Amino acid sequence: MSNIKQVGLAVGLLVIGQSGFAANAQQLAGRCASCHGANGVSSNPANPNLAGQKAPYLLKQMREFQSGKRVDSVMGAMMKGLSEADMDTLAIYYSKMK
Ligand code: HEC
Repeated sequence: MSNIKQVGLAVGLLVIGQSGFAANAQQLAGRCASCHGANGVSSNPANPNLAGQKAPYLLKQMREFQSGKRVDSVMGAMMKGLSEADMDTLAIYYSKMK
């Protein structure tokens, strides 16, 4: 794991300790629910489940969609404009779902 990734997760874990985390995460995830499900489980087989997936894995996928390393037109567009902290928050949020 690179240092940058560790820093990103550390920031996210700090954010979790703050009361605003849940509200912020829910707001960010509101854009994802139509495809990935409100509880991170998708009803459409074309869309992967996110619930319970490991946070570092989710963060890596989001970074790669954003950078274009992993190519998907929908997800590339979804990640546009999200900050590192936003992606971190989303990764932790979905990883904690059952
Ligand atoms: C319009 C539908 C749609 C929306 C909205 C959407 N996604 Fe996705 N997402 C997909 C599809 C389809 C894939 C699979 C792409 C592929 O085949 O590579 C995917 C893949 C992913 C993956 C990779 C999962 C894995 O197991 O590799 C992550 C993480 C992810 N989405 C997060 C998000 C987040 C966070 C949001 C909200 C900010 C979001 N998505 C919004 C359709 C969507």
